[in-house]
Amino acid sequence: MLNIKDIAAFDKLRTPFYYYDMDLLRKTMERVASISSKYGIKVHYAIKANVCKPILETISASGFGADAVSGEEVVHAVSCGFPGCQVMFAGVGKSDREILAALDCGVGCFNVESLQEIEVIAELAAKTGRIAPVAIRVNPNIDAHTHKYITTGLNENKFGLLECDLPKAAELIKSKPSLEFKGLQFHIGSQITEVESVFKLECERVNDIVENFEKTGLKVTSIDLGGGLGIDYDDPDTNPIADFETWMRVIHENLKVREDQEVHVEPGRSMVAQCGNLIARVLYVKTGTTKNFLILDAGMNDLIRPALYGAYHKIENLSAHYLRHEDEKDCAYDVVGPVCESSDVWGEGRVLRESRRGDFVALRSAGAYGQVMASRYNLHEFAPAVYSDEL
Ligand code: LLP
Repeated sequence: MLNIKDIAAFDKLRTPFYYYDMDLLRKTMERVASISSKYGIKVHYAIKANVCKPILETISASGFGADAVSGEEVVHAVSCGFPGCQVMFAGVGKSDREILAALDCGVGCFNVESLQEIEVIAELAAKTGRIAPVAIRVNPNIDAHTHKYITTGLNENKFGLLECDLPKAAELIKSKPSLEFKGLQFHIGSQITEVESVFKLECERVNDIVENFEKTGLKVTSIDLGGGLGIDYDDPDTNPIADFETWMRVIHENLKVREDQEVHVEPGRSMVAQCGNLIARVLYVKTGTTKNFLILDAGMNDLIRPALYGAYHKIENLSAHYLRHEDEKDCAYDVVGPVCESSDVWGEGRVLRESRRGDFVALRSAGAYGQVMASRYNLHEFAPAVYSDEL
């Protein structure tokens, strides 16, 4: 059950809202800092997962860098305390305006994803009298065994350069005095739960790719393996912190690293998912002939993952748990939102404590790709953020 200091404090808040457990975030950061320093791996938080200022400030204060995928994310990362030189700028479609903004911030690396992009960055850097640090994103053609919308490392995906284009990319970079080559970057997908096998495979592919690439004469001093570590959506209380130890140990054991090389990773979800929860109220309990519906005031506009990917988020009735102590019975509900779309469903046949109008309900593990992907569909207001430190 979601651990909250004082559910009474929720009473004065308008629902829905995102509730962030800042103690859990800090504990997670401590764990990541200790494991990453043990294995000598540099962590860049993928800020696309959650861009709330207090969360970013907590992460930057822990000494991590950032991974950004738009000019706006680069600028935001710097304004939340990440040093520009520790911000990586990735993405298949960087506009000229975004590249210039990133050059202004002094980003640590542009992860380039096409031959044409190399030309454009070189030209803009030369025009502004700067040297742009670049790494090549390589598509390693690995199946991450995850949802097809969050698999990114297959040849059919739009991301990165194919191995066959690497010699051309290397020649191009060598010919541009306004570029400084850093290394290679990879990312194979997200919510990877087969941690040992999939990341071992990634390391083995990367070893080969790096070795082959260096035949071009360019030295790979930075190897970036991307993000992708999965979290436990089924049981967030048993596993509130993702398995960073296995992930980094597998990298340490399988990636060939020389003294002159640095290893980077870009976790997003695993850093922030479990500290965030979408808190809603039950608007109506509708009893049908075959089903009972629990209609919440939070919908797919607030958290689109179930509608978009069929993603599972654990649902808990907080009022029944914290406020009503009598022995209540359980009941199966189709839990739905208020939006006029049949995909606006939180879960079918979910067994919860018997629920009443006005009850607080938590949609768990919503800290990553929740608030950032919200929309104002049906003109619902954006659900605001509430931080445990402020309650
Ligand atoms: N690096 C790159 C280049 C990425 O594209 C991503 C995520 C990450 C790092 C961070 O991956 P993570 O550690 O979070 O798995 N909206 C989807 C997830 C999309 C992930 C996109 N790229 C979802 O809600 O599941």
